[in-house]
Amino acid sequence: MKRVQMKRSTNSLSTLYCLLSFLCLTGCHSIPPPTPLDQLNAQQMRGHELFQVRCALCHNDRISEPLHGPALRGVFKKPYLPSGAPANDDRVTSTVLHGRNLMPAQPNTEPQDMDDLLSYLHTL
Ligand code: HEC
Repeated sequence: MKRVQMKRSTNSLSTLYCLLSFLCLTGCHSIPPPTPLDQLNAQQMRGHELFQVRCALCHNDRISEPLHGPALRGVFKKPYLPSGAPANDDRVTSTVLHGRNLMPAQPNTEPQDMDDLLSYLHTL
């Protein structure tokens, strides 16, 4: 009886392992997943709302599929932005303020809004 139970739990563990490896191979490219929305603090949540209004039209944030621009999932977990520039707050801020190729500039972004946006982007 005990033996059967052991076997079962080993089986479900290997199933879980297979499933996780499969998900990682297909989806996450070994980047940890974004912080769940219900775990965001107030500033990150504000950034999330700003993202919906100002960025979501062209960028996916929580999945890796590109839209009009590259997906921003894991943007600060990778060393480089899609252009090859280092992935840091200064580069992303200047991309938003000055635009880039087909990405329109948003020069009137308030510093507080930019901070909130960046704090959300860091959770992706
Ligand atoms: C109208 C569509 C559009 C909107 C709105 C938009 N983007 Fe983009 N974004 C793009 C496109 C297109 C690119 C690719 C530009 C290129 O490198 O050719 C891009 C590129 C980027 C990059 C990568 C820059 C690099 O150096 O590779 C970042 C980061 C980015 N956008 C952030 C944002 C954020 C944050 C917002 C919201 C404040 C935003 N974008 C709003 C279209 C958009």
